[in-house]
Amino acid sequence: RIQLHELHFRPFLSAEELESRVRELGEELSRRLYGGDPCFVVMLKGAFVFAADLLRASGLHGEVCFVRTSSYSGTRSEGQVKLLIPPEAELIRGKDIVLVEDIIDSGLTMQAFLPMLRELQPRSITLVTLLHKPEAQQVPVPVDLVGFTIPSKFVVGYGLDYDGLGRNLPAIYQLDESY
Ligand code: PRP
Ligand code: MN
Ligand code: MG
Repeated sequence: RIQLHELHFRPFLSAEELESRVRELGEELSRRLYGGDPCFVVMLKGAFVFAADLLRASGLHGEVCFVRTSSYSGTRSEGQVKLLIPPEAELIRGKDIVLVEDIIDSGLTMQAFLPMLRELQPRSITLVTLLHKPEAQQVPVPVDLVGFTIPSKFVVGYGLDYDGLGRNLPAIYQLDESY
């Protein structure tokens, strides 16, 4: 059990479970994009840990670009998605994009970002998310690969934060409301 700021969290997905599922996702990606020339688009900050493991698990060679949106403050969505770091247009045009996200929660981040990415005219977009909360989703999102479908409870670790903390944790933890 761990504490970040005032909240307590309990173990949810172990480092071993993450490693083995990420390896499967990497293999599935390499099957789907075999022979292609993909560009990985990594959603900062949350997806940086997952992306580092997924890229190595896939064995695919390709460019990487980092984008950053922000919509969250604490555990609640503010509902407004800002593009803080945009993608490099020349790395997107005509390419097969692997869009790497750590979690799809309300879906608002992807709903806002996907049209911005499509505007840069990629050849295809494969959206991979480590975690998906279908019960929390407010808008439809075309997800191609999901690591874990999880209940609508706040989670941290393996890149995901609570108010800036917890990204370094090698496992994923779930909010423990019994405290
Ligand atoms: C979190 C998470 C996803 C997004 C999912 O990012 O990493 O990108 O929210 O939520 P949604 O589906 O409700 O939009 P956040 O905006 O907290 O930024 P961060 O990745 O820098 O932590
Ligand atoms: Mn994020
Ligand atoms: Mg966050």
